[in-house]
Order: sequence, then C-alpha cells, then structure tokens
Amino acid sequence: MKRFRIGLIGLGGMAQEHIRWMKAEGRFEIAAVSDVYEEALVKAGEQLGIAEEKRYTDFNRLIEDPDVEAVISVTPNNVHAEIIRGCLQAGKPFMAEKPFTRTFEEAVPLLELHERQPVPALLAFTYRYTPAFRFARELIREGKLGEVRSFSIQYLQGWGAAANNTPYIWRFNKAITGTGTLGDLGSHMIDMARFLFGEEFEELSAQLHTIIPERHDPSSGTMAAVEVDDFASFQARMTGGRMGVFQTTRNAIGSGNQHEVSVYGDCGTLHASTLNPNQLIWIREEAPGQLATVTLDVPAHCKVTQYADFASLLEGNVPDGLPGFMDGYRNQEILDAIVRASETKATVKL
Ligand SMILES: NC(=O)c1ccc[n+]([C@@H]2O[C@H](COP(=O)([O-])OP(=O)(O)OC[C@H]3O[C@@H](n4cnc5c(N)ncnc54)[C@H](O)[C@@H]3O)[C@@H](O)[C@H]2O)c1
Repeated sequence: MKRFRIGLIGLGGMAQEHIRWMKAEGRFEIAAVSDVYEEALVKAGEQLGIAEEKRYTDFNRLIEDPDVEAVISVTPNNVHAEIIRGCLQAGKPFMAEKPFTRTFEEAVPLLELHERQPVPALLAFTYRYTPAFRFARELIREGKLGEVRSFSIQYLQGWGAAANNTPYIWRFNKAITGTGTLGDLGSHMIDMARFLFGEEFEELSAQLHTIIPERHDPSSGTMAAVEVDDFASFQARMTGGRMGVFQTTRNAIGSGNQHEVSVYGDCGTLHASTLNPNQLIWIREEAPGQLATVTLDVPAHCKVTQYADFASLLEGNVPDGLPGFMDGYRNQEILDAIVRASETKATVKL
C-alpha cells in the first residue's frame, strides 16, 4: 500500500496527536517539518529523524518542497489562512486544523483560489471521527428517531477556570486566535450539527462572554487583558426547521474534554458523548407507550479514523462524511454570524 510523504507545520501540543495518529495509521512518513520556534524544530526533527535540511523555519519552503506530497497544518490560528493559501497556490493536498481562519474576511479569498484549483483538503473537525457521533448520524439518517425536532450540543473544558490560574497564552490574544472558546470549541459544535443533520444554519442568536478578563502573562510578568470570549452560547434554526442550542466554555471546572450531543426526535432520543466514545444511549419505544433506555455499542463500520480518510482522499476518493474545504469555509461563515449576533444582540440570518 502506498505511503504518503508529509510535511508537518507547527510542532506544538496538537502536533503530537497528529504524529501519534499518523504512526497508528501506518501509511504516512514525515518528510519535513516546520516551526518558527527553533527549539521545537530541533526537538521534533530529532524525535522524528528528519534531516536538518528538511527542518524549515519558513513554512512556504516546506510547501514548495517536492519531497512533500501533502501538508498537515497545526499552527496557531493566525497562520491558518496563509498556509491554506500556500497549499492552494502550490496545488498541494492538505489537512488543516480548525478553525478555518480567524475571520470570515480571511476565508473569502481562499474560496476563490479553491474554485480555481480545488486541491484535496481535510479540515480537522476531529469529532466526526468519534465513533458514537458517527453512529448517531447513521441512526438519524436511517430515520430511527422519526422526525428530529430539536437538539443540544455542548463542548466543555475546564483548563481555563479560575482555580487553575491558567496563564496568558495565544488563545486569549484576538490578533492570533480570532475568537476564543467560540472558534476553538464552538467550531466543533457547529460542524457537529452540520455533520449530524446534513443541513445548514438558517438563523441564529448568540451571547459571547469573557469570564476571566485578565490573566498573568509570564513573558512580561504583568497582567494581560483577555480580548476574546471564554464562554459562548448560541441557538439556531437549521434549514430543515430543527432547533438547536449550543454552549461552550473552557471554565467548566472538572470537565476535561466533554463534547456531548442530545438529539430529540418524534419517536426517540439519542445521547452521545466523548466521555463514552464507543457507546451511545438511545431512548426508544419498545412497545406502544413503553419507553426503554438502551445502551448500544458502536458497530465497527462507524470506527473510521481521520488519517484513514486522509489517505483515501490522497488516493483520489472522497469518503462519506469527510470534512472538506467547504466545511471549513461554511464553518467560518457561521462563526462570523455568531460574533455579529452577539455584538448586535439581534437574530442573524445566513
Ligand atoms: N482538532 C482538534 O481537536 C484540535 C485540538 C487542539 C488544537 N487544535 C488546533 O491546532 C492548532 C495548534 O494548536 P496547539 O495546541 O498545537 O498550539 P501550540 O501553541 O501548542 O503549538 C503551535 C505551534 O505552532 C508553531 N508556529 C507558530 N507560528 C508558526 C509559523 N508561522 N510557522 C510554523 N510554525 C508556527 C508554534 O511555535 C508552536 O510550536 C490550533 O489551531 C488549534 O485550534 C485542534
């Protein structure tokens, strides 16, 4: 089976996950790496056995490198648009981390480039690959819940809570991150709704809020203002008429990585969570008027991985449910609408 030569840009925390996933898939070899931080470049270069001439501080040189067949972008959000632009211009397939860009304004010119040269792309909406969510989508599509009327999605983390004294990092700096927990975790919730129902957001209202307005910045030794949200809630009507409520925060103390979905149909309810990724709970009518709550194991065919799909994409296929370029673009459009809805305190139509 063909192995793909990868160029990995951004060698921080999440890159370690990508390296682990690539190894587990067994179809990828890392041919070049890039980071602006020399220490990270040397460390990852040695960890991965990358020759010095394939360790780039300028990601454009990695994208241009003929030894690199596909690019994986795992940088902070301020670099996402430039890397996607570089890959589209070079005609190089890529996997890019979310959020798509910082703002919708940054996303628009990328669509024009993509229309001219639609290179294969996977946007890392990783939770499409959580088995319980994929199984939930299958049951919804098969009509097992009847008509779905409403749903709720939450994505809670606790690392930002006051008790943790989390210092100021790039995730609180608007110029680097764009939005706060909204773009970070909210982008996953938006994608989950689009993935589960195959529908677009029609209109929405929203509240963004900053619970902790300043944090200690170790680089300056002073307090720095947090310029982005660390709590976001929104509610939306989907194009099929279903109503959804969404909440996310990084200040839910005790929550590690808690992404959860509840879906309410005319004849059943589903609950799925990252806390129990290989099972889901289905409340259904077993006999007329008799409800039963069953816990189902996710079947093997719903255990698809992001890197298996990426390999398939690089072979010229488009696997069902793969998050592609347009999923990133639309996601950014919805993030932008949420920011506007919160600022104007008005319902925004898409
Ligand atoms: N899909 C997911 O579930 C998921 C989870 C966590 C993070 N992420 C995303 O991954 C991205 C990276 O997050 P992280 O936690 O790894 O951040 P991080 O700060 O730990 O690492 C980012 C790395 O990128 C490097 N970098 C910065 N500018 C660069 C440039 N111009 N060229 C090359 N390298 C550059 C930094 O030096 C750093 O080593 C973010 O966009 C984040 O939203 C996604």
